[in-house]
Amino acid sequence: MRHQPRSARKHFLNLRNPSSALTAFFVSRSLLSSLASSARFCASLSLNPPHPVPCPVPKTIIEPFRIKSVEPIRWTTRAQREQLLAAAHYNMFLLPADDVLIDLLTDSGTGAMSTHQWAAIMEGDESYAGSRSFNRFRDSIQSIFGFKHVIPTHQGRAAERILFGVRCGKGSVVPNNTHFDTTRANVEFTGAEAVDLLIPEGKQPSLAYPFKGNMDVAALEALLSRVGRERIPLVMLTVTNNSGGGQPVSMENVRAVSAVCRKYGLPLYFDACRFAENAWFIKLREKGYEGKTPKQIAQEMFSYGDGCTMSAKKDGMANIGGFLCTNDDVLAQQEKDLLILTEGYPTYGGLAGRDLEAIAVGVQEALEEDYLRYRIASTAYLGNHIAEEGVPIVQPPGGHAIYLDARAFLPHIPADQYPGCALAAELYLEGGVRSVEIGTLMFAGAAQMDLVRLAMPRRVYTQSHVDYLVEVILEVFRNREKIRGMKLTYEAPFLRHFTAHLEPVGKSIWPRDVASGRLLPQRD
Ligand code: F0G
Repeated sequence: MRHQPRSARKHFLNLRNPSSALTAFFVSRSLLSSLASSARFCASLSLNPPHPVPCPVPKTIIEPFRIKSVEPIRWTTRAQREQLLAAAHYNMFLLPADDVLIDLLTDSGTGAMSTHQWAAIMEGDESYAGSRSFNRFRDSIQSIFGFKHVIPTHQGRAAERILFGVRCGKGSVVPNNTHFDTTRANVEFTGAEAVDLLIPEGKQPSLAYPFKGNMDVAALEALLSRVGRERIPLVMLTVTNNSGGGQPVSMENVRAVSAVCRKYGLPLYFDACRFAENAWFIKLREKGYEGKTPKQIAQEMFSYGDGCTMSAKKDGMANIGGFLCTNDDVLAQQEKDLLILTEGYPTYGGLAGRDLEAIAVGVQEALEEDYLRYRIASTAYLGNHIAEEGVPIVQPPGGHAIYLDARAFLPHIPADQYPGCALAAELYLEGGVRSVEIGTLMFAGAAQMDLVRLAMPRRVYTQSHVDYLVEVILEVFRNREKIRGMKLTYEAPFLRHFTAHLEPVGKSIWPRDVASGRLLPQRD
């Protein structure tokens, strides 16, 4: 294993990649904040520093944990992967997980829990009604989110289904910076229309802009006057913006959207899946928030809203779970009634008491500064190292994932031949890496970009795994001209990307041996 295959790969936080002034700005801001925390550390030891930064500052941002339990991962040969991929109809969701070496399909429910979470799990109260674990869950969530009602659900989409099921119907219009796929599907399932109002900067993958997840406030006002406020049951903000590259929303934008909502008497809801990562980006990039803790930032952000949907599988640091919050008593009652019908009693909502405990601890851990510093630096390390070699990615690197811009990576493949799927297939063939297409297969005609998301599970992979990923991606990039497009051979009526069947178009890039019919390696 090459621990430091390139000189610049010494540190998670890549200080040698100021490919743009903005990147350099972010890097120096984060370096300054680590210097500041070092000064605070000295102060806490009463070292009475004569200079602002008297302590030696380690440059490497390390994983802020040690490993107590390991899970083996399995190597396959390229020839095996060719067969496995064909058997999975070139759809990453249909691959058996055991045949994947590094699994970046999602950061959802794939994280490693801490010793504190496992200890809390042992305290799980499995009472059907009024369990102790629910109280801990509610109190922990309220200490951050501040909403009056906390309704547990088995995951984020269940919260979405209940919220939209109660608030929306035929003729309703729901604005969001960008709806995630399940959010859009749940809005549309009620007969309502889901409208994405991302700022123009957010639609240009290579543009480095600090808050590319922001909602276009003028477009929101225009929508309101075009369709009328009566047709809009709520406005949503997704933090961070998953479908748009894991990009954050600024506090300024939250305030502006909230002001429009107040003006028209509309509730503002957050899709809060990655609220802690969003808070960290605000701390790093938004003036006035440098000295605030991520928790204070999250509290302020939620204070501008009326409720949220949440998948605890992301910044809840749990393997399952979610919740729905609201300040509205009447709505909460309607939501709980619907919850009982399909999820469970309102003090467990489809979860075990132990799951509630894991989430109660997890939402707090997600806001710890050491964790967030490592998390964001680790993702940026991957993004910066491949971008340095010319690989087109959504800039700047997102919080939970790096997004390859498949249209720019594979300019010879038109969007209707699913360049994202073709690229994801090649990453698997090259290195056993599983990623996911977020583009024409997922969103059909509504796709504004064709991206391949490399989502980083929380606290799971180490820096050497990330170095391996860099090597795999660069190898695929060197051979990109040989990659062919894909065509669909089966699609479901909705959320088709989960089950779609695809195959390469034209001359197969995975040729078969004529005599045996077996797939042959693409290259030697
Ligand atoms: N909203 C956002 C922004 C999401 O990223 C997700 C899930 C959901 C809602 C739904 O939550 O899975 O708990 O039902 N995203 C996962 C992903 C699946 O891979 O990005 P869920």
